[in-house]
Amino acid sequence: MAFNPALLSSIFIVLLVFSTVTNALSLNYYDKSCPNVEQIVSNAVKKGKANDGTVPAALLRMHFHDCFIRGCDASVLLDSTRGNKAEKDGPPNISLHAFYVIDNAKKQVEASCPGVVSCADILALAARDAVVQSGGPNWAVPKGRKDGRTSRASESVQLPGPTFNISQLQQSFFQRGLSLNDLVALSGKLISTFLLLSKKKRKRVTSDASAGGHTLGFAHCSSFQNRIYNFNATRDVDPTLRPYFAASLRNTCPIKNRPRNAGATMDSSSTIFDNTYFKLILQGKSLFSSDQALVSIPRTKGLVTKFASSNQAFSDAFVMSMIKMSNLNGGQEIRKDCRVVN
Ligand SMILES: *[C@@H]1O[C@H](CO)[C@@H](O)[C@H](O)[C@H]1NC(C)=O
Ligand SMILES: *[C@@H]1O[C@H](CO)[C@@H](O)[C@H](O)[C@H]1NC(C)=O
Ligand SMILES: *[C@@H]1O[C@H](CO)[C@@H](O)[C@H](O)[C@H]1NC(C)=O
Repeated sequence: MAFNPALLSSIFIVLLVFSTVTNALSLNYYDKSCPNVEQIVSNAVKKGKANDGTVPAALLRMHFHDCFIRGCDASVLLDSTRGNKAEKDGPPNISLHAFYVIDNAKKQVEASCPGVVSCADILALAARDAVVQSGGPNWAVPKGRKDGRTSRASESVQLPGPTFNISQLQQSFFQRGLSLNDLVALSGKLISTFLLLSKKKRKRVTSDASAGGHTLGFAHCSSFQNRIYNFNATRDVDPTLRPYFAASLRNTCPIKNRPRNAGATMDSSSTIFDNTYFKLILQGKSLFSSDQALVSIPRTKGLVTKFASSNQAFSDAFVMSMIKMSNLNGGQEIRKDCRVVN
């Protein structure tokens, strides 16, 4: 490839601008203005988890949803108004719950240091605490995000979906400056938990008795139906699924007389933060096409194999990718109430 100084310098300028933006976040951002913020958020998450075991996974999913639409600007926390249907009420909204945990944290933070801490930062901290309190790795969260003023239901379709193939997943991540490494590291805990329900909600929709057990993720038949019926012109069932696993999914989701809201549970999103998700993919027991897609090209398959064999390698990669994703920001203000713009 020919050396092109003009191109090189423009790349350099882009990198410079980019690093200036990300440098706006810092580890000691609230050291003077709100020294207790981390403790307050951590306590709020602990309390939420004690009340409902699905809270940690829900907070992680909420942060991911926030960051992937308009950057991590707490747009996911805004309520719909008379004239506007907000992100949280868009199509994949069934996976979102536990907003009260963020409300509680914000209330206490405001009492301690009013008007200083953004809702986007509180959510980023809560997501980290959710991981830590589930036995996962700990890390220092850069802070200084601002809250956005726009939230649109129509934009929630920009989230990667359960039927995405590897090129669609890759594009969704690349558009946000995230790599294939980030895709694999974040998939199990952030994308694949998209139909996670609170205990209460789950009771209402579950027809599969086993969902009342200790697994947390619950997926409606519609989100993996493409793998168990009419997979393609020659095959009814996705051959990458273990036959007995596919049979049990078909049993749970019959074509005729399917119970309303039938679905399967995902073992991958248990309360314990570990690499089980990657092992299940390799065993042919992933639920979604978007999970199986990770082993459809050598580069990502190598990472799945690596993470399945080493919880440490997974944890390290997860932390790096979380920090990277959490740095996407686009807000303007410090909201007083996380549900409404100032
Ligand atoms: C969720 O999304 C559906 C479909 O867009 C919508 O009908 C519903 O009102 C939304 N909100 C809640 C809380 O379910
Ligand atoms: C992924 O899906 C898109 C849209 O359906 C399609 O255009 C593309 O060819 C698919 N890519 C692969 C690798 O299957
Ligand atoms: C159906 O899927 C199988 C397994 O992925 C593949 O080998 C086969 O070529 C596909 N058939 C068609 C018609 O796409």
